[in-house]
Amino acid sequence: MENKKRFYITTPIYYPSDKLHIGHTYCTVATDAMARYKRLTGCDVLFLTGTDEHGQKIEDKARDAGVSPQQFVDNIVQGERGILDLWKLMNISNDRFIRTTDDYHVSAIQKIFKKMYEKGDIYKGAYKGKYCKPCESFWTESQLVDGKCPDCGRPVEDAEEEAYFFKLSKYADKVQDLLENTDFLEPKSRVNEMVNNFIKPGLEDLCVSRTSFTWGVPVDFDPGHVVYVWVDALFNYTTALGLFNDRYDDYDKYWPADVHFVGKEIVRFHSIIWPAMLMSMEMPLPKKVFGHGWLLLDGGKMSKSKGNVVDPYVLAEKFGVDALRFFLLRTFPFGSDGNFSNEALIGTINVDLANDLGNLLSRTVSMVGKYFDGQLPAARKEDALDDELVTMASGLRGRYEEQMEHYAFQNALAEVFKVIGRANKYIDENAPWALAKDMDANGDRLATVMYNLLECLRISAILLSPFMPASSAEILRQIGACGCCSNWDSAAVYGSLRADAVVVRGDNLFPRIDAEKAVAELEAIAEQAKKAALPALELEPQLEEKVDFDTFCKSDFRAVKVKACENVKKSDKLLKFTLDDGTGVDRQILSGIAKFYKPEELVGKTLMAIVNLPARKMMGQESCGMLISAVHTEKGEEKLNLLMLDDKIPAGAKMC
Ligand code: MSP
Repeated sequence: MENKKRFYITTPIYYPSDKLHIGHTYCTVATDAMARYKRLTGCDVLFLTGTDEHGQKIEDKARDAGVSPQQFVDNIVQGERGILDLWKLMNISNDRFIRTTDDYHVSAIQKIFKKMYEKGDIYKGAYKGKYCKPCESFWTESQLVDGKCPDCGRPVEDAEEEAYFFKLSKYADKVQDLLENTDFLEPKSRVNEMVNNFIKPGLEDLCVSRTSFTWGVPVDFDPGHVVYVWVDALFNYTTALGLFNDRYDDYDKYWPADVHFVGKEIVRFHSIIWPAMLMSMEMPLPKKVFGHGWLLLDGGKMSKSKGNVVDPYVLAEKFGVDALRFFLLRTFPFGSDGNFSNEALIGTINVDLANDLGNLLSRTVSMVGKYFDGQLPAARKEDALDDELVTMASGLRGRYEEQMEHYAFQNALAEVFKVIGRANKYIDENAPWALAKDMDANGDRLATVMYNLLECLRISAILLSPFMPASSAEILRQIGACGCCSNWDSAAVYGSLRADAVVVRGDNLFPRIDAEKAVAELEAIAEQAKKAALPALELEPQLEEKVDFDTFCKSDFRAVKVKACENVKKSDKLLKFTLDDGTGVDRQILSGIAKFYKPEELVGKTLMAIVNLPARKMMGQESCGMLISAVHTEKGEEKLNLLMLDDKIPAGAKMC
């Protein structure tokens, strides 16, 4: 054990603010495949995952749900169909699971914070800036994009409070050097993004404490402050090994990590802030941060609020855990974004698993059963027809390893499936059914053909085991491979399967899916989930009083186009609209909606207005009509949306 190469790999720790979706599952499955691969190659692996449970977002959600923050996160982490259940279902082989609310972690974070403070790298100041609550990120005005969070595009809020700062600027040069001159961050494309967007414009010191909420690790030497959630979160990778705590004691053994797998939007935290803080703590840096892409849905990010998250439970239960794991890593290049679709999932299952792998297995096993009663004879007769297949399968482990060492899961799987495809073609070329017609003359040749097929299945199953652990074990069982010819070493030695291995027929591992039916079922489930995700609206009560039809018809509703829009001076409510109402004369309407829209957002839009109200004056200006909006209240907050019409509708068109 002591001589084994160590390999420490982590996933990001997940926010238990909502149930996890297929995007989160993607990263954990990838990490699991890498951990299993490293174990297969003989490494002593530590695979860590966990949950990042502090922060204002969790505190707010718990309040909305009427429970304590701890109860709230407990439910999402360990409740039914929670995060722990999901990882169990997905056959995730993590060795450790950290929760940032665990006592040992909390006290270790306090010590880490104090150490950086005593060193002078954390100092007290006043924080004034912008805060994106969903991302738990502080931004300066200059970092905002169109006034919104540069990461998620959502509105930010003003924040001003006494706070501690980390001297990130002090480490800017060293971090830039790390990114530009080492392989610390991959894929390489992410290096330019970090250096050009964040370091070159000037790294500012980072606000690392908050006083406006309490759900966090308290700064023990200054009550009222809680540690910024990202400081708390990033150090999980080391507290989970025992840094500044007695819970674990293998920090010296496993740190520095071999690789942190992280999604692209959190590369900034892992490749700039994390190394800078480790430099401050005078700790070794992780060997690598790999920033993977996102799984997109219809080209956009999945999000609970859009109601377009894909539920991994639904897919795993419907298609099988291994099929889902396989699909995620076979279909999308790990470093780039990929578009998730039910059609792609079903297509991959049908083509790769049912047609290619499943068929190869069931045909081979059933032929060995039919022609040899499940056990091959020892006699062999080789042929030049075998050469290509045998050469491909013999070199497969090397080609696969080359790809896996670069985290290129998709390419590694492509190598395996080239051999599987070639083996299916080999069946057709050798037509075992024809050979079987004259067993006296062709028995030896048929045994050779069958043996080659079993060998291809054996080597493929070993190499597929990090991706599809249960199915691979079942393939090895069906082809009669024992422990010593199911390991990593034997995957490089063609001919390791005993000549007289006993083959047993088993279940069809990957049944073909009726795509049309399955897609329709999934769409119905998604539709239901979307409805369930819609926020409960608090609507105005409907009026009982009736208006007679003629009176209603007198109201003149028209399409109007916004030519100009500006804030009314000295009013924080009113916007002044100059509108084209189709008459050729500009119409002016004032509307009390400045809280909901910026004037520039509305220019060019086609809106609906009632135009035959008597003119009235507001703040000394005339308003001729009223713009129509939808209003409702959400979680006690007033919401307003102007009724926007299709731009094809001409100005002045009458609404009836
Ligand atoms: N809590 C932080 C991580 C702290 S690590 C010290 C966090 N949590 S998260 O739950 O929001 O996201 C966890 C991971 O899931 C991130 O790496 C994120 O990129 C990944 N994904 C979330 N949605 C995703 C997709 N749609 N596709 C792929 N990965 C995505 O960030």
